[in-house]
Amino acid sequence: MWARLAGNIKFVGGSFDDDAAFDTLAATLDDLRQSHGITGNAAFYFSIPPAAFPVVLKQLARTGMADNDKSGGWRRVVVEKPFGNDLPSAKALNDLVDDVFTRQDVFRIDHYLGKETVQNILALRFANNLFEPLWNSKYVDSVQITMAEDVGIGTRAGFYDTVGTARDVLQNHLLQLLALVAMEEPTSFDADEIRAEKLKVLKAITLPKDVARDTVRGQYLPGWVGGERAVGYLEERDVPTDSTTETYVAVRLGIQNRRWAEVPFYIRAGKRLPRRVTEVAIIFKKAPHLPFNDADMESLGNNQLVIRVQPDEGVVLKFGSKVPGTTMEVRDIAMDFQYGEAFTESSPEAYERLVLDVLIGDRTLFPDAAEVEQSWQVIDPLEHAWAGTTPEPYRAGEWGPRASDEMLAREGRAWRRA
Ligand code: BG6
Repeated sequence: MWARLAGNIKFVGGSFDDDAAFDTLAATLDDLRQSHGITGNAAFYFSIPPAAFPVVLKQLARTGMADNDKSGGWRRVVVEKPFGNDLPSAKALNDLVDDVFTRQDVFRIDHYLGKETVQNILALRFANNLFEPLWNSKYVDSVQITMAEDVGIGTRAGFYDTVGTARDVLQNHLLQLLALVAMEEPTSFDADEIRAEKLKVLKAITLPKDVARDTVRGQYLPGWVGGERAVGYLEERDVPTDSTTETYVAVRLGIQNRRWAEVPFYIRAGKRLPRRVTEVAIIFKKAPHLPFNDADMESLGNNQLVIRVQPDEGVVLKFGSKVPGTTMEVRDIAMDFQYGEAFTESSPEAYERLVLDVLIGDRTLFPDAAEVEQSWQVIDPLEHAWAGTTPEPYRAGEWGPRASDEMLAREGRAWRRA
């Protein structure tokens, strides 16, 4: 199979504005079609800077490569993030792509949605009867979403320094996680039904009234991560020495609907944190009455349901149990579901799943234009409020700036030790 596939892999080189290269590409596709007697489907994968979109789209239109009817095969386009830099640029990109491809042929990749554990949020919530009655402001105290990375920006300064953490991962991966956790049940798992529910909850997001108080931007200083010395962000290759780009962000969002009124959603993401972990923690309210002595409850915290997206994929339920012995002491314990132990089936890589979905035309795991634009409506006001401010420093290998802990402490809460 591979030999047959490999024999048909062709490489056509050229720059985006090189008409001849795109003519050769079109002719190469035609040759392949004719020599195999097939209609020839085509998916164009845009892993290119957004600034290059207009010229490439124009070339695909000019050469007829984007034309669905020409050969009878389908034409699809896959677009990598970042999808725009703010709302106006995202809208302009959506319009550009819409001019050349029909809406249902556009696949915007958010690789988090291809992760097994992220899809499991839907299964956990909607295949079970156990959690739904508790999934609301009556029982939930707060939700924490953490995306921590131990790595720095590596060799991606050219990209990263122009975007920062909020645009890099909050606008897409983390708001998508929030949407899956907070949305209402779709009537079916049809792509449009899921997207409609996600969009509704994205529209209900409220920003902090005082952005300076209830958000934190940070930038890493030199430090130690995993026993190795790490340089600070400003010493990374190709980062301007006066850069004010954030490498850490924490925000407190709200969701304005009956289910989530008054429940804070704390979201944090950062580079050069102590370890790599992505998780969603549903923190439940304490029991309204606890008939125990204070001394017996010292090790009892809030019940928690933790969806571990990666690594150690699984779900943990934390609750209090009686400590064996003659007293009525209760202590938090964890019930642990691990993918590696519960299943023998292996998880496909996120991209493996998503590329297959493009080929079979399943759009369920791809955010549509409205979701992307709505997510920018959340990020844009934050970016405006942050403009001209300097991020708070944190040492590489620490859990972000102190201000982030203070943000939660002011409300009588603390970040979970992820
Ligand atoms: C990408 C971001 O989308 O996700 C990177 O641009 C980040 O900055 C990466 O490192 C993390 O992906 P994963 O799958 O390792 O969590």
